[in-house]
Amino acid sequence: MPFFYVQRDITGMQVDAIVNAANNSLLGGGGVDGAIHAAAGSGLLEECAKLGGCRTGEAKRTGAYRLPCRYVIHTVGPVWHGGTCGEPELLAACYRNSLQIAADSACESVAFPLISAGVYGYPKAQAIRVAVDTIGAFLQQHDMTVYLVLYDSGAIGAIAERFGALRQWLGDALQVPPAARAASGASGWKMGLMKPRRKNSVQAQQSDDERDSTYACEDAVCDNADMDAHEASYALRPLASVPALTLDDMLTQLDESFAQMLFRKIDERGMTDAQCYKKANIDRKLFSKIRSNPQYRPSKTTALAFAVALELPLDETRELLGKAGYALSHSYRADLIVEYFIRSGVYDVMRINEALFAFDQTLLGA
Ligand code: APR
Repeated sequence: MPFFYVQRDITGMQVDAIVNAANNSLLGGGGVDGAIHAAAGSGLLEECAKLGGCRTGEAKRTGAYRLPCRYVIHTVGPVWHGGTCGEPELLAACYRNSLQIAADSACESVAFPLISAGVYGYPKAQAIRVAVDTIGAFLQQHDMTVYLVLYDSGAIGAIAERFGALRQWLGDALQVPPAARAASGASGWKMGLMKPRRKNSVQAQQSDDERDSTYACEDAVCDNADMDAHEASYALRPLASVPALTLDDMLTQLDESFAQMLFRKIDERGMTDAQCYKKANIDRKLFSKIRSNPQYRPSKTTALAFAVALELPLDETRELLGKAGYALSHSYRADLIVEYFIRSGVYDVMRINEALFAFDQTLLGA
């Protein structure tokens, strides 16, 4: 299921198949077509010459020769004529037919360039939309890892343009200094994200373990004045008042694990495992690992991907993250971006990954 945006030269990608944005002759050209033929060597052109060309929207497979993949799937995208000559349907057919050939060739991983978005003039934002929608639909029915290569700045800019409101929200959220945020009550720590500690205080020099042994909370940094307000409002008590427990006692008090909460939520929502991991952009093998180990500790992006797939509200997202040992923080753009979409009720991992990619952050899923 996983789908990723990447920014790199497709000719160097070590996947099972790369897709070439070719022309009807299949006899090479410029752009990514020229790059693939140059990297593959003359053998590719000789094989292409035997294929008798390719119609727009269709796809044909060849060997990869000197390329670090198994196959090259050549497809011919539509030339852009304003969008009223069937261009979207033909472009979607390029992705669908290429993916079908990849599936029929037992490919587990495929990389696409942004077909038609170069010489053929397809507006990049629209080309991305068609690609994401078509690939996303295909991956609901197939287990395959698909990469969409956004090679030039125009393509990356096209994605970034889609997130003006998010950029504004991020700007606001990141501009407010932690101390002011803490005082305003709108800060992360008030929302149970991170709790502040005194700047330059003795406590700040303590190790994490020492600090945890003093107060029952994690911390971020804020001014001392806010720390007083924080302590008053949280009525912090030193852990020393907790009755002494043996290690065995402690170990019998394990909370529900990440995996246990994940499967409880899948059941509560009446989802199948496959529906959940596909929606989370997680591959089947990783899900099987989690399924077989109740103590499995996922990466933060994996935990967040499941929270989104389960459409958890913010508090339950924090709870699920917490069970994997993570917190949502207003100190990290990636966390803020995911929080923005959860607050907006947009539980679409593909769309969130577009935004994460646009802001150069790690994508959700694995
Ligand atoms: N790796 C990944 N992507 C690339 C690379 C590369 N090495 N080189 C170019 N691209 C990107 C471009 O930035 C663009 O976003 O591939 C996308 C498709 O652009 P083109 O290669 O121009 O393909 P297209 O618009 O479909 O036009 C096809 O151009 O090269 C000729 O023979 C080809 O006639 C055909 C036409």
